[in-house]
Amino acid sequence: MFSLALLATIGSSESFVWAETAPQSAETQSTELIKCAPYLQGMSQESVIITWHTSQQAYSWVDYWETGAPETKKTAQASTYGLKNVGTAQAVTLAPLKPGTSYTYEINSKEVKRILPYKFTFGVEEKLTEMKGKPLSFTTWPAQADNFSFIMINDLHDNNSLHRALLDKCGLEESAFVCYNGDIVTDKNTEDEIFNKFLDIPIELFAWQKGFFMLRGNHETRGAMSRSIHNYFPAVNDQFYYTFQYGDVFFVNLDCGEDKVDTSNEYGGLVDFDSYRTEQMKWLEQVVQMPEYQNARYRVFFCHIPPTGGGAMDVQVDVITPGAGVSLLSIGSDEMGLSVNEPASENIKTGTTLSGAPWHGDIEIRDKFLPFMLKNKGDLLLCGHTHKLYNCNYRSGDYNLPVLINGNDAGVRIDVSPEKMVLRVIKPDGSVVTSKVIVPRR
Ligand SMILES: [Fe+2]
Repeated sequence: MFSLALLATIGSSESFVWAETAPQSAETQSTELIKCAPYLQGMSQESVIITWHTSQQAYSWVDYWETGAPETKKTAQASTYGLKNVGTAQAVTLAPLKPGTSYTYEINSKEVKRILPYKFTFGVEEKLTEMKGKPLSFTTWPAQADNFSFIMINDLHDNNSLHRALLDKCGLEESAFVCYNGDIVTDKNTEDEIFNKFLDIPIELFAWQKGFFMLRGNHETRGAMSRSIHNYFPAVNDQFYYTFQYGDVFFVNLDCGEDKVDTSNEYGGLVDFDSYRTEQMKWLEQVVQMPEYQNARYRVFFCHIPPTGGGAMDVQVDVITPGAGVSLLSIGSDEMGLSVNEPASENIKTGTTLSGAPWHGDIEIRDKFLPFMLKNKGDLLLCGHTHKLYNCNYRSGDYNLPVLINGNDAGVRIDVSPEKMVLRVIKPDGSVVTSKVIVPRR
């Protein structure tokens, strides 16, 4: 899967007796305990979650220090209820850290073969200190940042070549972080698929030194791995919905849930997303009270599924740049009475009333999330899901909520400055499909 540089193996090998361990497939069997390089989750100004995986049950720790200052060395470990975590998903939080500071780090895992009262059997111990010939390192986000860039990618649906091309053409090198906005790790049944169809690429290209965020779409909730996917993408609050801040931009990551009703046959009676979205609606009321939200220059929301329809809310959608040949069927319905205001176009008439049946998830997000964004003056909503591009604005009364619904064949590069946010929708050949400018409220 990757080359373990400067890997030290310590200790002995004993017969495997950890009864709770799931059997490994042939593809995942490895003589190496540490099976992938680390990747950064939950990056912020003062903390980060160092994440990696082991081929066997293990406990882990991270040694870290300010780069160039080995005398500041510290060790962090993960424990729950007073017990050090033992498993195959390793997640160690480093905190508190200094903003805008470079740290060097090393990851360590020690195999745990058996735990009995007063008797413990350990296996090998491994350490990983570098990637691509350089010491593992990262820089925490700065306390202040007027100008920065980030990338949004969505709906990859296992397309590794598209993934690589979009990271390249959207400017991975200069971006502060990458946000994957759903339908990325789709319908997965094995850990191998999570690596082969997604995780190998950020691990190879950037993720040991630059963080990324993984939002669930409606496909991350399907398949055998759906109930352990949080182990691969841990967040600071152990949820898939959370907030973070970079510079003067306050980000709200919403977890859209499934697209169909909870009782649909496709879900086998095992989902409860209506309640889950209501839970987030209540959480949003707490978010708006946060000084960080109140004081932010820009408030940016991510939600994989876009809200659709207007209905009683009297929301209108102004579609600025539809994709070529795009039909508006998928973002509205007669039932909701949504009207679309569209500049002259061969395909779409100005003031068209949308037709087509909305999906349950769309309606839920319209009713539970969209009112919050309108009432509390969100500055941008970034979505995917439709597999078609809609550059539009949702209007309610005097308030305009800019919305970009990205298609499944492009990435979005966002350049932030005090004067404006510039969004560019970029194809894998580097061409810019459309752009959008957001100016601050104040
Ligand atoms: Fe989707």
